[in-house]
Amino acid sequence: MGRAEGWAAADVAEVLIPEEALLAKVRDLGGHISADYAGKDLVLISILKGGFVFLADLCRAVSIPVSVDLMAVSSYGPGSRSLGVVRILKDLDETITGREVLIVEDIIDTGLTLSYLLRNLQPRMPASLKICVLLDKPARRIVDLPIAYRGFEIPDRFVVGYGLDYRQRYRNLPFIATLTQDAIDRLNRE
Ligand code: IMP
Ligand code: MG
Repeated sequence: MGRAEGWAAADVAEVLIPEEALLAKVRDLGGHISADYAGKDLVLISILKGGFVFLADLCRAVSIPVSVDLMAVSSYGPGSRSLGVVRILKDLDETITGREVLIVEDIIDTGLTLSYLLRNLQPRMPASLKICVLLDKPARRIVDLPIAYRGFEIPDRFVVGYGLDYRQRYRNLPFIATLTQDAIDRLNRE
């Protein structure tokens, strides 16, 4: 179903969200964010690595002045699932005190990563602290979090593309897709 980039075509089981739908949604989110934060000191904070593609497109869909900052965290746990134990590998460069902060994340699954980040950023006293996620997998939520901006709700399937990886691959697919079991098995052997 759907098309895949040539190099990954054999590995893709199903394209869940095609490129055109992603870009239309990002434009839509950018419009809402621009209206909601007009006249404010907005900082978009993304979490490496998964968030970088979404952030790159989203910040260009925002039509008001904006700063961009990056954090890197690592979730302990084997391969693809997070266990909620999060370590900061790279902190923000800028101070967020008194500023309007919007966390831009690729996906919310259990919610453990984002809840950790909220607890880490809130004490820095931003004027506001909200969450924008491209993908929401509500089926596995452990921590209930307020999501201010949401792209798509997806079923409980492991997805790759548009920044999301499996064992560091497939981040450069321009769409969101599931992988074949053969592709997963092959990467597990590498
Ligand atoms: P959470 O802490 O369980 O909400 O998981 C968040 C992180 O787990 C995301 O930022 C991703 O790095 C990773 N993750 C969760 N589901 C997927 C998926 O379907 N594909 C790729 N990464 C995922
Ligand atoms: Mg991530």
